[in-house]
Amino acid sequence: MNSKMSQQNLPDAFQQLEAIFQAYGDLLLVLSGDGTIQYYRAGDGAQSYLEPSQFPGQKIQEVYPYKVGRKYANAIFNVRTHKKIVTMEYSLPVSSGEGRYEARLIPLANRQIIVCVRDITGHKQSELVLERQLKQLAALRAIDLSITSNAKLSTTFSAILDFIRAQLNIDAASIWLLNSHDHLLEHAAGAGFYTAALAHTHLPADEGYAGMAVSENRLIHVSNLQSGEADFPLSPYLRMENFMDYYAVPLFAKGKPLGVMEIFHRSALSANAEWLSLLETIAGQAAAAIDSAIMFKELQRTNTELKHAYDKTIEGWSRALSLRDRETEGHTRRVTEMTMKLARRIGITSSELIHIQRGSTLHDIGKAGIPDGILFKPGPLTDDEWKIMRRHPSIAADLLKPISYLAPAMHIPHSHHEKWDGTGYPDRLAGEAIPLAARIFAFADVYDSLMSDRPYRPAWPKASALEYIHNNSGTHFDPNIIPEFESMIAE
Ligand code: C2E
Ligand code: SIN
Ligand code: SIN
Ligand code: FE
Ligand code: FE
Repeated sequence: MNSKMSQQNLPDAFQQLEAIFQAYGDLLLVLSGDGTIQYYRAGDGAQSYLEPSQFPGQKIQEVYPYKVGRKYANAIFNVRTHKKIVTMEYSLPVSSGEGRYEARLIPLANRQIIVCVRDITGHKQSELVLERQLKQLAALRAIDLSITSNAKLSTTFSAILDFIRAQLNIDAASIWLLNSHDHLLEHAAGAGFYTAALAHTHLPADEGYAGMAVSENRLIHVSNLQSGEADFPLSPYLRMENFMDYYAVPLFAKGKPLGVMEIFHRSALSANAEWLSLLETIAGQAAAAIDSAIMFKELQRTNTELKHAYDKTIEGWSRALSLRDRETEGHTRRVTEMTMKLARRIGITSSELIHIQRGSTLHDIGKAGIPDGILFKPGPLTDDEWKIMRRHPSIAADLLKPISYLAPAMHIPHSHHEKWDGTGYPDRLAGEAIPLAARIFAFADVYDSLMSDRPYRPAWPKASALEYIHNNSGTHFDPNIIPEFESMIAE
């Protein structure tokens, strides 16, 4: 029953988590202590340097170009010597140019090493774009605006407004940001107004001069706001400001509308070509600053999210691996299939199904923490042994807790041994307090377990297994699901 680790016979925890891993890694390798590739798996997004058939049996130091091979040799040496995870980066020629990769090498207790390789080419390209954006921000600073390198957008705006009021000799100016979701222009900054009435206001994005400027992407000029010449009625507070000359400058970056800058003067402006050109330059730089700020925020967010999910996956995974290697592949696959089928039949929505699939796949990961002597004991368990065995759902919960994207999949690993009448474990939940996913899962788990050989008893015949489930409707199993389970088996 307990199988030795070999090339064909990988640890069960490994196999269960492999599916999860695929979403985050592009290439997965298992190496023996000397670097020989024992197992190879390319994820969906992989841009492989070599054909998979070239891998197994070769040493990783030898399948890659010399420089990359040396890096692997060093990393393997460090992993083995210091027994800790080593991360490294390297480049390889790919059809589209140069690919960048990040490899994490994770030591296992038996001298084997897991290598997870991530294609970070796209990520590096985003970094370059970010760098360019930051350079534009630096150019804005070069016009002698006193802004600090990581100034908030509002600080940058005040600096811009002060600058244009001084350099363009105007009385007042304001900046509005386009919220394309609500289709509104939101007031972001203003200077030179008598009142603060504009702050915290917003305008419909396709009305008035400001709306026209941004929706048509053109400069709007009104030489006398007070005269009947104006196309739009002025709001009362602008009337009180006694403005005369007016410009609305669209703020665009990379063809995308970001907002509008308004310029006001209480007498006629003598705008020449140079003045207009300076106005447009400043507007361009304001737009670049907005674009950089938005982009910087988004990049920061996606980077941390990705990195977080990735790290935590590997963490939970390697912790599980170091605990146990052993095989339960058939059982896990069968109960996952049967559970998915039953879940679909009782109308679980497809967005929930993915969590049920992950939860089933991971349901017995907690057994990785149960000693061989108990798990493989060829007879009944003593009270003390049962105490330990009953910890496996909580062990699973602890193991998977750090992986936030698995949170909605936790119900099955955590609650699959609860019983309808409240006599199960670990929390003695009863009835519908037991998560539905766990109630559905219990059918497949017990049914498949009863029909399989266990160290403590031989497999039961199908009829006895079905009879057992039928007789325990309402005690162990959710009586509302039983009919659907039985008609599924009958088919
Ligand atoms: P498992 O063997 O995969 O069993 C899963 C569940 O199927 C069990 O949860 C139980 O609800 C049901 N089941 C399995 N075999 C039998 C059986 O022969 N009779 C009955 N009435 N129900 C059965 P349970 O009881 O919470 O056990 C959880 C895990 O604890 C089992 O997973 C197995 O790994 C271990 N275990 C349970 N009983 C023994 C035992 O007598 N000796 C040993 N060595 N391990 C045991
Ligand atoms: C399992 O339920 O995961 C398999 C248990 C066993 O093979 O003893
Ligand atoms: C468990 O260990 O998850 C419960 C029993 C099983 O896996 O079949
Ligand atoms: Fe279990
Ligand atoms: Fe199971």
